[in-house]
Amino acid sequence: MRADGLQGAHPPLTLYISEEGHSCLRKAAELLGLGSANIRVVPVDVHFHMDLAALRAAVAADRAAGCRPFCVAASAGTVNTGAIDPLDDLAAFCSEEGLWLHVDGAYGAFGALDPELAPRYAALTRVDSLALDPHKWLSIPVECGCARCRRRAAHG
Ligand SMILES: Cc1ncc(COP(=O)(O)O)c(C=O)c1O
Repeated sequence: MRADGLQGAHPPLTLYISEEGHSCLRKAAELLGLGSANIRVVPVDVHFHMDLAALRAAVAADRAAGCRPFCVAASAGTVNTGAIDPLDDLAAFCSEEGLWLHVDGAYGAFGALDPELAPRYAALTRVDSLALDPHKWLSIPVECGCARCRRRAAHG
């Protein structure tokens, strides 16, 4: 189940994460029954940002192979380097391709509260969902995780 998931004989839903993404993304995908075989690990560029060209190629290859790309999980602050993925470009790409854009901002998204850094997070208004951890930078006692979803109807 961990490897193949619970996707039955349907064209498999395929998830895209960055090689710098937090390990919880893989864990969540496996718990959801997506199967690790249906997770694509997208390489990063020299700045540790998800490589959009590589993502584009992976999505195209998967569609050609009969898979169903459905979600990109990007980061707004990776654990290793604090890298913020190119959220603007990813939002445009996901919108073109009909993909859900999730952003893991557990560690980094509160940087948006700093007026100097805020422009780097502007595209957060365009993402489909965002994970935040008030128990990190906001110093709220653990566990205080938070997931925000832009469209209530999408949860129906
Ligand atoms: C970027 C990022 N995402 C997700 C997590 C998982 O957070 P938690 O399990 O504490 O909610 C962490 C924790 O370090 C993180 O830094």
